[in-house]
Amino acid sequence: MTDSQPTLKGLAAKVAEVTEAFTRTLEENKIPEPTFAADSPTSYSGLTGEMFLQRQQLLDHLNDMIYLVQGPSESIFNYAHNCMPDVAALNILNHFDFWSAVPLAGSATYSEIALHTSLPEEVVTRVIEHATTLRIFEKTAFEPGTPLRIRHTSRSAALAKSAGLRALVSTVLDDAGPPMTVMQEALRRFNAGKTELAQDMTQTAFALYHSGALAGKYANSWEFIENDGEGGKKGWRQRTFVQFMDYIKEIFRLEDVVENAYDWKAAGTATVVDLGGSGGHDSIVLARKFPDLSIVVQDLPQAQPVFEKNVPADLKERVTYSAHDFFNPQPVQADVYMIKLILHDWPDKESVQILRGLVPALKPGARVLFIDYVGKQDELAGSASGPPLPRSIQQFGTSTDLRMLALFSAKERPVGAWKEIFRQADERFELVRVEANPLTFMVIIEAVWRG
Ligand SMILES: C[S@@+](CC[C@H](N)C(=O)[O-])C[C@H]1O[C@@H](n2cnc3c(N)ncnc32)[C@H](O)[C@@H]1O
Repeated sequence: MTDSQPTLKGLAAKVAEVTEAFTRTLEENKIPEPTFAADSPTSYSGLTGEMFLQRQQLLDHLNDMIYLVQGPSESIFNYAHNCMPDVAALNILNHFDFWSAVPLAGSATYSEIALHTSLPEEVVTRVIEHATTLRIFEKTAFEPGTPLRIRHTSRSAALAKSAGLRALVSTVLDDAGPPMTVMQEALRRFNAGKTELAQDMTQTAFALYHSGALAGKYANSWEFIENDGEGGKKGWRQRTFVQFMDYIKEIFRLEDVVENAYDWKAAGTATVVDLGGSGGHDSIVLARKFPDLSIVVQDLPQAQPVFEKNVPADLKERVTYSAHDFFNPQPVQADVYMIKLILHDWPDKESVQILRGLVPALKPGARVLFIDYVGKQDELAGSASGPPLPRSIQQFGTSTDLRMLALFSAKERPVGAWKEIFRQADERFELVRVEANPLTFMVIIEAVWRG
């Protein structure tokens, strides 16, 4: 290992070596080592300058290990996926003083915390579930038949014990955080094309954020993504989103999930509607593999230009695009309606409406092939009473869950909730197959129309 090109093994050796030296000096100086328990010291007290430096070197090695163990792309992906939910969770916990809702030497149920914070129990549960992936609060041992209890870890306890730390979180995240999320827009408006920074207090991210002129009025994130921008720029966010979904398909190998979700070969000469099919990335692959399928990709108008660019000339006959708002009645009578990664963006009422939108076009025996994320990975893995999944895996779901809460008042649903959406939409949907896989984070539901 050279310093400029560290390797995992080299870093592990360095970590072991520096940890050994650091803990030895801690012992020599009688400085107690923090743990994750609520009664842990909240910091290393009395580090000498030299020990501080050593600790920071250790941190550098550990950070490098964290990057390398994920690899370049995933380390960026995971950071981008988690950092905003992490900030949101900490800010919410602090703002509603979850810290004092749980006794330092005891535990509390979700409903007790809900009462204390005046928030719905569902929100309390979802925020704490994400927080536990950051070792902020933890669940006590599972006891069948009793409600789950939450206790402090040393990290949440540090906030419960220190008004100063709470104030820091509030000032840095609650006051300065939101303006920092619009820095790119402030720079675009006030500094792009200039050679010097505009040193003007009316041209900061703060001024922009608090000006009331920041964002147009949109009913939801899709309306914003679809319509933001003027002239040729209009729809740029949707065009970027189409690329993002294509990328998600690649990295999670969703191509295999879609291919194996249904016996496409046995379907023979069939018409498929890919509802909310974005730029057609799934449909193009399916059509290529199964030459008897004809597929209509339906999405909002701004995804169409990307679709037209993506679709290979030899598939143009069989894979077509139709701008269709899925809250309107379905115009295409098809054999299979694929609904992939759509409903997790919507609350129950809208999800039910989207499914009901299909009904006018459904012929007896038509199928809805539903593919979406499934929440509660730990429960799925059957580990409620066994070893929990790694926090980094739980965090994947809890980060998405908090983002859905922020953007749509929606949630990552467990299998039962997905089945309930179908039941509420129409009792004539017969669910002939429900498969949930904690490793792919996906649930597949095949529903046959018995109308
Ligand atoms: C999370 S993406 C899923 C895309 C694709 N099905 C996939 O699995 O990669 C959700 C899609 O729903 C589309 N969408 C949102 N609101 C819509 C509406 N009212 N009608 C039709 N499509 C909509 C978005 O444009 C976006 O392409």
